[in-house]
Amino acid sequence: MYSKEEITVFDESAQRFLKLKSIDKSSVVQLRSLLRFHEYQYYVLNNPLVSDYEYDQLYKLLEQVEKEFPEIITPDSPTQRVGSSLNQSFVTVQHLVPMLSLDNSYNAEDLYEFDRKARELSGTQEIEYCIEPKFDGASISLIYEDNVFVRGATRGDGVEGEDVSTNLKQVRSIPLSAPFSKYGLQQVEIRGEVIMSKHAFKKYNEALAEQGIAALANPRNAASGSLRMKDPKEVSKRNLDAFLYHISFFTPAENAEPDELIRKHSGSLKMLWECGFRSPQKEKLVVTGIEEVIKHVHDFEEMRDTLPYEIDGMVIKVNEISLQEKLGMTSHHPRWAIAFKFKARQATTKLRSVEFQVGRTGAVTPVAKLDPVGIGGVTVSSISIHNEDYIKEKKLMIGDTVLIERAGDVIPQIVKSLPEFRSGEEQTIYFPGSCPACNSELYKEEGEAVWRCINIDCPAQVVEKIIHFVSKDAMDIKSFGAANVQKFFDLGLLSDVPGIYHLDFEKIGQLEGFGKKSIDNLTAAINASKGQPLNRLIYALGIRYVGETTAKSLANSVSNLMELADKTEEALMELEDIGVKVAKSIYQFFHNADNLEMLEQLNQAGLQFNNYKKERTQEGNLNGQNFLFTGSLTKLKRTEAEAMVENYGGKIVSGVSSKLNFLVVGEDAGSKLEKAKKINTIKIISEDEFLQLISSGGN
Ligand code: IVH
Repeated sequence: MYSKEEITVFDESAQRFLKLKSIDKSSVVQLRSLLRFHEYQYYVLNNPLVSDYEYDQLYKLLEQVEKEFPEIITPDSPTQRVGSSLNQSFVTVQHLVPMLSLDNSYNAEDLYEFDRKARELSGTQEIEYCIEPKFDGASISLIYEDNVFVRGATRGDGVEGEDVSTNLKQVRSIPLSAPFSKYGLQQVEIRGEVIMSKHAFKKYNEALAEQGIAALANPRNAASGSLRMKDPKEVSKRNLDAFLYHISFFTPAENAEPDELIRKHSGSLKMLWECGFRSPQKEKLVVTGIEEVIKHVHDFEEMRDTLPYEIDGMVIKVNEISLQEKLGMTSHHPRWAIAFKFKARQATTKLRSVEFQVGRTGAVTPVAKLDPVGIGGVTVSSISIHNEDYIKEKKLMIGDTVLIERAGDVIPQIVKSLPEFRSGEEQTIYFPGSCPACNSELYKEEGEAVWRCINIDCPAQVVEKIIHFVSKDAMDIKSFGAANVQKFFDLGLLSDVPGIYHLDFEKIGQLEGFGKKSIDNLTAAINASKGQPLNRLIYALGIRYVGETTAKSLANSVSNLMELADKTEEALMELEDIGVKVAKSIYQFFHNADNLEMLEQLNQAGLQFNNYKKERTQEGNLNGQNFLFTGSLTKLKRTEAEAMVENYGGKIVSGVSSKLNFLVVGEDAGSKLEKAKKINTIKIISEDEFLQLISSGGN
C-alpha cells in the first residue's frame, strides 16, 4: 500500500474530481485507465481536465506500483511509452497491404475527370464521396492485435518499411490499446500521418534558436525527420501528433462479424475516433456528386490557415467500401481516391541586405531583408537567417535570388539560394565583430554557432529581456507589450525587469495615448502578474536554455524559487530534461550578483516565489476558507485555480451558502454572484484579487 501525499484525480465515470491518498496493486487497472483517459483528453481532444502536475503525480504513482510489482505491467500501460533503447536500429518489415500513394489533381477539370472514370468503371450514376484534409507529414502504418498496439512502421518503398514502434509510442495521440474487438476485429492495420502542429513546430524551433541551432524548415520535415531518430526521448520532445484515416487490412475476431460501420469510409473514421484515435472524424465531409466536392475543396483551401496543423490539399475518397473494391487500383494508386493539391506556398525574391539583431541572451541574429513578395496572402520582406553557419551552409550572398517558403502561420524560411540567377555582382555576407547595439566585442563559444554580446548593460539585451518577461507565455502582463517596453525604456521610465513594478504612472499618464483606462488596465495586469505560478516566473527570468518545459521541471522541484540557488549542478542534472549545459547555465544564473540583486528586488515587489503546488497547509494560508469560482476565468484554468486554493489549505465548495468565504468572479458570472451579494459575509473578489491573495500566501 502506497501512502503518498494526497492528489486530486478526475474520475471519468463519476465525472468529478476525487482525492487519492493511497493505491495498492488491485487499483492499478483503474489508475491506468484514468491516465489513459487524461492522455486522450489532452492529446486527442485537446481538452485537458487536469494540470500537467496532477497528471505527472498520477503517472509517478503508477510507475512506483509497477516497479514494485513488475508482473502487473502490461504492454499498453502508459508507462510503456518511454523508450529506453538508445541507438535503436530499425528493422525492415513488410506491410500487410502495400502502402500506395495518391494520384494528384489541381483543378476542377481534374476532378471531373476522376469522377467520370470512377462512374464509368463502377457503372454508378452518382457517387458518394468523403472529403478530408491531406495532412502534411510522414505516413505511417500501425498494427493492432487483440486490441493492443504491436507495431508501427514507416512507408519505406510502399511494400516494406522500417519498424519505428518505439518512436511512434512517443506520439501520445496514438493509443497503446484500442477496443477493436468491440467492432468485431482481431488484427487491424491502419494508415495515417504523423504531423507536427504549427504550435509545436514554433515552440520546437524557438528551443533550437535558444541553443543556437538552425530552425527546421517546416513541420513536415520536423515530423518525417523524427521517425528515424535514434533517441526516442528526442522524438518525445517534438510533441508530435498522428491522424489515422484508413483501415488497410483486418481480420474478424473469433465468432464475430465486422461492424457494419466499416462498410463506409466515413464509418471507419467514426470507428477509429471511437477507439481513441485522432481520425479526421470532425474534419471530414460526406457529399454526393463531384459538383459538391469541387465546391468544398475551395472552401477548405480558404480555411487552410485557420487550422492548427499544416495541410497541403484535400483527399477525396469514394465512401462505399464495396465501390472502392470494385474500382481497385493501378500499380501506383487507388482508383477510388485522389488528392486535390493546394497552391504551393513558395516564391522567389531577391536578398537585398542583412541586418543584425541582438536578442535577450545577447545572441546576434542575422536577418535577411528581401524584396517584398506575397506568399499565400502574406507579404514577406524579412527573414531570420539564424547564424553564420546557416549562411555558409545555404551559400547565401547579398543580391542572391532565393526560394522562400511559408508553411501556414509559421515564420517563413529560406529554402535555398538559386545560384543560377547570379550576375557576378553578389556580395559576401560578413558577420560584424562588435555588437550593433552597444559596440562591445562579440564572442563565440566553442562548438556554438552563435555570436554573442556579453555586455550585460547592452540596451538591446535589456529591452529584449523585459519584453520576454512580460510576454504571453512568461508573466503574461497584458497590455504591456513590446512597443510599450521600448517606449518606456527610450524615455528613461524603465531600465530593468524589476522596474516594471515601480513604474511612474503619473509620468506615463502624461504620454500620448495613455488615458486613465489604459493606465488602470496596465496597473491591474502588472499587479495580477505578481501571483503568476512559479514556473512562469522562472521562464520569464530568461535563463539561457530554460524554456517552458525546463521551467516547469525546476518549479516542481522546489517550494521556493531561492532553493534553486542552493542546488549544485549535479543536483540540477537529476531533474527531468536538464543536461550538463542547461544545469551549468542555471547554476551560473543563480551565482551572479546582478541576477541575485534582481531577484531580491522582485521578491520585495511582492512576486510569488513560493510554489503553491508544493506549499501546503502552513501558517498564513487559506486554512478553513471556502472558495467558489463562477464565470469564466481569463488568466487561470479553473482546475489550476482550484488546485491553488486546495494547496493552500482552502476548500472548494459547490454552492453559495453562508459557509462560503470567497466567491471569485470571472467574466459573465450569473446567478451565483447574485445569490452571494445577498449574504454579506461572503467576500466577492475578482480573478486579479484572487491572484494577489495567493501571491501574498493567502493573507
Ligand atoms: S489515403 C490508399 N488520406 O498523402 C489510400 N492519404 O500523396 C492511402 N495523406 O501516402 C492514402 N492525408 O501519406 C490518405 N487523409 C488522407 C491523407 C493521406 C495525407 C498522405 C499519405 C499518402 C500521401 C499521398
